[in-house]
Amino acid sequence: MEKRIITTDVVEEDHSLEGSLRPQTLDEYIGQEKIKRTLKVYIEAARQRHDALDHVLFYGPPGLGKTTLSGIIANEMGVNMKVTSGPAIEKPGEMAAILNNLQEGDILFVDEIHRLNRQVEEVLYPAMEDFAIDIMIGKGATARSIRLDLPKFTLVGATTRAGLLSAPLRDRFGVMHHLEFYTQKELLTIVLRSADVLEVEIDQKGAAEIARRSRGTPRLANRLLKRVRDFAQVKYDGRITDEVAKFALDLLEVDHYGLDKMDRRILSTLILNFQGGPAGVETLAAAIGEDAGTLEDVYEPYLLQNGFLNRTPRGRMATPKAFRHLGYDLPDVEAEE
Ligand code: ADE
Repeated sequence: MEKRIITTDVVEEDHSLEGSLRPQTLDEYIGQEKIKRTLKVYIEAARQRHDALDHVLFYGPPGLGKTTLSGIIANEMGVNMKVTSGPAIEKPGEMAAILNNLQEGDILFVDEIHRLNRQVEEVLYPAMEDFAIDIMIGKGATARSIRLDLPKFTLVGATTRAGLLSAPLRDRFGVMHHLEFYTQKELLTIVLRSADVLEVEIDQKGAAEIARRSRGTPRLANRLLKRVRDFAQVKYDGRITDEVAKFALDLLEVDHYGLDKMDRRILSTLILNFQGGPAGVETLAAAIGEDAGTLEDVYEPYLLQNGFLNRTPRGRMATPKAFRHLGYDLPDVEAEE
């Protein structure tokens, strides 16, 4: 066989919906009600027109269902989904090859889309807008560009860092959705559904304990459920009760509010190194050895939403709830004034 110069091994066929805990239809999907409502309309409208769905951008903290929703869109549209990610594509030619191999209506899911480099991103502009790519042929004075038509496809981009997307790329998405943390009730329903899929016995209290400690995040809920199941199987009688859940989750160092080691480290660093703050985000990030963007987009949203952390003009501050939760005395308020 002829050796191919351009390969598409930076793209995978999606098999993530098969035999996993991921829901396959919008009706099975729990939570993100507003997103579901609007996607249902867009999917139905596109289907009626026998057209591809507009390009979609999902943004928000990790583990909230960006990949799952993309898979559901593909499933409900009855098309294939190809999966790749920003850091996997290094050269414009790789992106061109991926696009050229799509079929009419296909979904191209690009995870961590904020990490595409500029030259690769530029291939996407005409592809998203006009379903065409411009290819340069020749060099120097004889160089010219030819336009290659593409099938009509849907780009689904996912990012934890919407702020890092360039304006020209962001503007080419017709649909943009921010994913929110899930409520306890939604997570409880997800845990019960997943336990059913995994055929593991669980009671309401056991499921509620896992839901409570899942940091508002289904991916974590499902991961914890699997770990608790292991303990239930080996140390107990296989059934997940709140006793089993508490025992296993304590060992896994996930606390009652669902904070993990990194969350606690951020708060205790603020409290111990900066007297509770304010500390600038760069300073705090350096102290915990993380990059400031990751701190802001991955860790902070949950801490902010749950009242452990405040963003003030002078920097981040640990709240009294954070002091109490981690067992530290509140700072002397008079000293502040
Ligand atoms: N598994 C993971 N996320 C889910 C969701 N949102 N609904 C149902 N099951 C899930």
